[in-house]
Amino acid sequence: MRSFQLAPSLLSCDFTRLGEELAAIDAAGATYAHIDVMDGAFVPNISFGLPILAAARRASSLFLDVHLMIQAPERYLEDFVHAGADGITVHVEATPHVHRAVQVIKSLGKRVGVTLNPGTPLEAIRPVLADVDLVLIMSVNPGFGGQRFIESSLERVRTVRAWLDALGSSAELEVDGGVSPHNARALVEAGATVLVAGSSVFGPDGPEAGVRRLRESVL
Ligand code: DX5
Ligand code: ZN
Repeated sequence: MRSFQLAPSLLSCDFTRLGEELAAIDAAGATYAHIDVMDGAFVPNISFGLPILAAARRASSLFLDVHLMIQAPERYLEDFVHAGADGITVHVEATPHVHRAVQVIKSLGKRVGVTLNPGTPLEAIRPVLADVDLVLIMSVNPGFGGQRFIESSLERVRTVRAWLDALGSSAELEVDGGVSPHNARALVEAGATVLVAGSSVFGPDGPEAGVRRLRESVL
């Protein structure tokens, strides 16, 4: 079995206790904190932006994995880096200049990721595949936590795993949306190396239990 990392999504955390939630996922062994930024235009929901990212940065030394669900993300890349992002992932659908956005994130010295919605053909990421440090396969339509995993995403993970292997790329292959103990093992077997999980980590019995259940489901 390949090793994998967990990236709990703060979208489902208790924001009145942001620092404690970050400490809890860190103590539970998560590697990343996944930060979902939504603008109410690219996706039909508004989450949060720079001040929350900056607060997370002050509270934690976890790797902050920023997922930009915003139109024309190139307008704000420097701002997100200054607020504390360690990695930034942009959607191919959000800009006609995804190649430029990738180059800008790289030039800012941060880990660069590219992603696409479940309805977008995988071919859309091929032009930048060799340039990125991470590919994110969305396994729900972005915008909300707690949605059901789209089963056909598993095949998309397998396809991108094959493309990355053929390139000799060591880029991370991340999956986001509906990840749970029911599908985590299959995703890692399909070639995923990072699993984002919101509602299955920040559940009623707390993030430590959520992280443990996900890890045990893959063993
Ligand atoms: C969806 C976000 C996800 C979301 C995942 O638009 O990109 O990161 O928070 O939440 P769950 O794990 O609950 O599907
Ligand atoms: Zn996300």
